[in-house]
Amino acid sequence: MGKDVIVACDFASRQQTMEFLDKFQGAKPFVKIGMELFYAEGPQIVRDIKARGHKIFLDLKLHDIPNTVMKAMRVLSELDVDMCNVHAAGTRAMMEAAIKGLTRADGSRPMLIAVTQLTSTDQESMERDLLIERPIDEVVMHYAKTAADAGLDGVVCSPLEAGKVHSHCGQGFVTVTPGVRFAGGDTGDQKRVMTPAQAKKAGSDYIVVGRPITAAPDPVAAYERCVVEFVD
Ligand code: C5P
Repeated sequence: MGKDVIVACDFASRQQTMEFLDKFQGAKPFVKIGMELFYAEGPQIVRDIKARGHKIFLDLKLHDIPNTVMKAMRVLSELDVDMCNVHAAGTRAMMEAAIKGLTRADGSRPMLIAVTQLTSTDQESMERDLLIERPIDEVVMHYAKTAADAGLDGVVCSPLEAGKVHSHCGQGFVTVTPGVRFAGGDTGDQKRVMTPAQAKKAGSDYIVVGRPITAAPDPVAAYERCVVEFVD
């Protein structure tokens, strides 16, 4: 499994995004495009960033009836993204439909990962709002296993959960982990954080890093620091 650093391009416009990417003259980072940028600029932003030579994780977290997700995934597959995602809460049938939609005529497809429980959901809100009364760790692992059984490639999780996900779902099942901060850096609104080096030790396959790179005085140096700590 090739480890990589994914840069969360949480910008509101094409202009800000391109100004940021222009700084990278050498290595082309794997880029995460989220709802904000995608909804602001539409699918063309994906084609344009792809044309600059970046791999793309399109983080739209689909969750709908299987047929709708299948057809939406067919569109994303044609956009030629490298990784995309769904909510595991959409059920196994929805995840299987997502894979069907993503798979091209030649059998190739982008990687597909699942969101288990959002980190904004805690035990209390899960019980109160969703009527799910099992311990949240158990729920997360069950959702991960359901995603694996549906044929997905991995899950988004905390680096703290990466080892447990691998032991439940197999070493080849990919863990994509946000919540990464440099030692001594500002944690911002992320609560349970790890450094890139710790995430590597914990078994993360991909780290998703936003503000520690995008808001750094020298974003290229911050990206390179992540690569040195996590990949090399
Ligand atoms: O700036 P920061 O490094 O906190 O950005 C992390 C990225 O990962 C953001 O795009 C955020 O939405 C995303 N993310 C997260 N926690 C999750 C899932 C996604 O921080 N559980």
